[in-house]
Amino acid sequence: MKTIQELYDFTDKTIIISGAAGAIGSEAARFLSSLGGNIVLADLNEDKVKQIAVDIEKETGNATLGMKTDFTDETQIEALVTATIEKFGNISAVVNNVGWGANTPLWESNTEKMVDAYKLNTLGAYNLTRLCMPYLKKENNASVVFSGSMVGNTPSPEFIEYSTAKAGLLNMVRSMAVASGPEVRFNSLIIGTVDNGASSEEAGYTQEMIDNVVKGIVLKRRGLPEDIAYAMAFLLSDAASWITGTELTVNGGGVYKTKMPTS
Ligand SMILES: NC(=O)c1ccc[n+]([C@@H]2O[C@H](COP(=O)([O-])OP(=O)(O)OC[C@H]3O[C@@H](n4cnc5c(N)ncnc54)[C@H](O)[C@@H]3O)[C@@H](O)[C@H]2O)c1
Repeated sequence: MKTIQELYDFTDKTIIISGAAGAIGSEAARFLSSLGGNIVLADLNEDKVKQIAVDIEKETGNATLGMKTDFTDETQIEALVTATIEKFGNISAVVNNVGWGANTPLWESNTEKMVDAYKLNTLGAYNLTRLCMPYLKKENNASVVFSGSMVGNTPSPEFIEYSTAKAGLLNMVRSMAVASGPEVRFNSLIIGTVDNGASSEEAGYTQEMIDNVVKGIVLKRRGLPEDIAYAMAFLLSDAASWITGTELTVNGGGVYKTKMPTS
């Protein structure tokens, strides 16, 4: 039996993280780097992702690569994979974390907005994973995790573009898993509401909406980015080496409403 240190030792493993300048992606990068991995941080926000990469390398002493990548542009994803191989020579794991969705009522979307949400939340993950597969297949316990959402497996008409794209992501991951064992493992996280600073407001959440959601969460708080980073590390680690094609829900116990009369 392995020790906990052996299970979570990412030394010599190269891990690409998308959306790595964001709240969850940057914490995943920090934690996985602290466990010994070579971390490739990719994000549209070039200045921020490069700064975070430099900071993490200083903190942990382990190598990072920060790179501007627009995950809606296949050419840029190809360049990311090439740069990763040039710098580190291997790809052991991928965290398909990039994603975003605005609040749009059910019948107020259109073709462009529906397609844009799909490109960012679903297609970007498909393309990055597809391009990494030849390298992942060469690795021991290769693993890919995806940032799914509660809105992708429950009806969410107020986030119609984002929820539809995230629902597609979940089934895509299941298909990847059944076709790619035993070489590569694929799992999704179903993430509940996580405090990511200003992004929640940009997505259309007001403080009142957030307070209402928190009241209903079993563990009575929003998630922290590190709550998700820890779950990602588990799914990538040797502790999860017999887990594939599944979804791990990380949502503070979900939203609970009593079925009994309250007055
Ligand atoms: N925060 C939550 O409550 C929550 C809940 C469920 C699921 N998720 C999912 O978790 C993931 C991370 O969320 P977060 O809260 O850290 O978000 P965030 O807004 O903090 O970070 C998202 C990052 O993605 C980057 N980005 C946006 N468009 C891009 C593009 N085209 N190419 C490359 N990078 C791009 C942004 O620059 C940003 O750094 C997302 O997939 C999100 O859908 C988050």
